[in-house]
Amino acid sequence: MEKESPIGIFDSGVGGLTVVKSLLEQLPGESFIYFGDTAHVPYGSKTEEQLMSYARSILHFLRNKGVKAVVVACGTHSSVTLPRLEGQYDFPMLGVVKAAARSANRLSRNLRIGVMATQATVNSQAYTREITNINPRCQVFEAACRKFVPLVESGILEGEEVQDAIREYTAPLLENRVDSLVLGCTHYPFLAPAIKDFAGCEIELVDPSFETIEELRQILMRDDLINDSGKTPVRQFYVSGNDESFYKVGRLLLGDLIKSVKLESLD
Ligand code: DGL
Repeated sequence: MEKESPIGIFDSGVGGLTVVKSLLEQLPGESFIYFGDTAHVPYGSKTEEQLMSYARSILHFLRNKGVKAVVVACGTHSSVTLPRLEGQYDFPMLGVVKAAARSANRLSRNLRIGVMATQATVNSQAYTREITNINPRCQVFEAACRKFVPLVESGILEGEEVQDAIREYTAPLLENRVDSLVLGCTHYPFLAPAIKDFAGCEIELVDPSFETIEELRQILMRDDLINDSGKTPVRQFYVSGNDESFYKVGRLLLGDLIKSVKLESLD
């Protein structure tokens, strides 16, 4: 493994680009390979065995590309498959759940924390486990937000449909008097302005991206793998399905950093 090797990052679609945004800000010298598993989006409705099979295929692909670490930029995989895959690869892997749990614990004052995530993530109760591992006095309220991923994948971040969905999922959490909302699926930070509008500015929104990349930085420093070559980083984007939609929506969300998208079928 070399300092100049890329970081692997994956998600079902454009959601992991919220983590890429943080990577660009916090570790701008790193090259990366992003994999959007658009053939299988949404992940939230998939079974554990389906998710395991997707994760293994993507990790196999990333390993063949010579990655030095993998960021599981997906709440669903971080909750469901990462705990089963940890230690099986010769590169470090980290997800977003532990990072989100640390941030939520830091930000919540009344120890009542809402988690918005996919159905598969909510079923796993991974966020509740990680948050209460840090502080058992926390009370965690989880909500599955089925409508959010299709909206973000279509590039729809505002308007009536978005507001209706936000009201449906957020109102019951606020009734439980939470003071912070964990955006437990990496697609959701793209909806943060609309969620904030509804929830009000006294509610803290917890986007796990910053803390996840901070953890990555510490791992790379520990292993002496920070890319300090000064060379222009190489940033590549792959998808397993609809590359045109990823290109269009990805550029809407991340700008012209996405120059091209390569199609790579993993089946
Ligand atoms: N962005 C992913 C997550 O964090 C996947 C969402 C989905 O495809 O349902 O859970």
